[in-house]
Amino acid sequence: MKILLLGGGGREHAFAWKLAQDPGCSQLFIAPGNAGTAECGANIALSATDFPGIKNFVLTNAIQMVIVGPEEPLVRGIVDFFQNDPELSAVDIIGPSATGAQLEGSKAFAKKFMARHDIPTARYAEVTTTEAGADFLKTLKPPYVLKADGLAAGKGVLILDDYNEAVSALQTMLDGQFGEASRRVVIEEFLSGIEFSVFALTDGKTYRILPEAKDYKRIGEGDTGLNTGGMGAVSPVPFVTPELWQKVENRIIRPTVAGLSAENIDYKGFVFFGLINVEGEPYVIEYNCRMGDPETEVVFPRLKNHLTELFNSLMAGRLDVVRMETIPETAATVMLVADGYPGDYRKGDELRIVMRREGSLYLHAGTRNTDGKVLTNGGRVMAITSFGQSVAEAVGRSVEAAEGVVFEGKYFRRDIGKDLEGF
Ligand code: AMP
Ligand code: GLY
Repeated sequence: MKILLLGGGGREHAFAWKLAQDPGCSQLFIAPGNAGTAECGANIALSATDFPGIKNFVLTNAIQMVIVGPEEPLVRGIVDFFQNDPELSAVDIIGPSATGAQLEGSKAFAKKFMARHDIPTARYAEVTTTEAGADFLKTLKPPYVLKADGLAAGKGVLILDDYNEAVSALQTMLDGQFGEASRRVVIEEFLSGIEFSVFALTDGKTYRILPEAKDYKRIGEGDTGLNTGGMGAVSPVPFVTPELWQKVENRIIRPTVAGLSAENIDYKGFVFFGLINVEGEPYVIEYNCRMGDPETEVVFPRLKNHLTELFNSLMAGRLDVVRMETIPETAATVMLVADGYPGDYRKGDELRIVMRREGSLYLHAGTRNTDGKVLTNGGRVMAITSFGQSVAEAVGRSVEAAEGVVFEGKYFRRDIGKDLEGF
């Protein structure tokens, strides 16, 4: 099968790495890809949101399956674009329809969906005026959680300790701090607990669960400083006991898929459940309509099944007969980022692997090839994944590998997984 993969980050290198070993994938193209995906297939100079360009490429190259990595093309309706175009409707595309993608594209949509299907989540109000928000904030205890309704590149959530600060932050958001995305704001009760991520692949009726993961969002060690796209991840997550898994599946995953089905929402792709464990009870913090980054960099290395087996079963409505097989060892990824990230960061520095660690997987994120050199090309530059018998061993190996990669201004966290040591 000829496959086109959309996206160009660490997640997409993990997809491409899996597909490169997959007997069901005869030829792989990645748009736009990065210096790492170029080793797994052919990079195409096309943006993942250039729908007409993608159409042209798919038709010219007789692509049979399109896999959508990032959320933006999904929220913009790439799946509907394929289904509504007579020339493209026979091409399999992995991802939800625009309506399904609203689980991520609109926090208000997601909250209402959860309310309709009795899925545990923080109490909330959806507001478009500061007055209404100020009234609701009075019913909550600090800290206060404010979320831009729409996509804001992972930056749209603010957490404030003080009522007056929260009201003024709300005003700034509604005034367009995140453009149209924050003209509507979801205000939430703050949930206190430890977060983890769960992934399901669904055809909108049945589902299969992938290994869970925990990511590390803050730039600084000890989980301090600004939020990032993710500085590292581990899988499995030691505190996710069989008992907690049962609750996650019964109260969250199953009702979510049943809700999609009951509402006739076309959803053939991944659902990412951002969860929080509050004293043994799981709640949904957020949904995403795609795999996580850097969670994919630990989840896929643990997955024994080939992706084409999963996707072909999904498309045939036979996901329920697939047996998921997982490597039991712990995988940990450490993200190497550019100086300045998550603010303005350096770009265009040469990256070299001066000491390659046997057994570690070097997944490129923000990189590109120029004249035979690999140059940094994004805030998150490279994710290095290693296996170990424990979180500490797996992280230690990735940190060791990270030492052997050089580029100007390299930074990474050495404390990924440290908080899991007590479990
Ligand atoms: P999101 O972009 O929705 O993942 O939110 C970013 C981060 O904000 C989450 O990973 C949580 O750490 C935090 N957060 C979001 N909602 C809540 C909440 N209701 N209670 C506590 N923390 C939250
Ligand atoms: N690592 C969080 C995300 O992919 O959104």
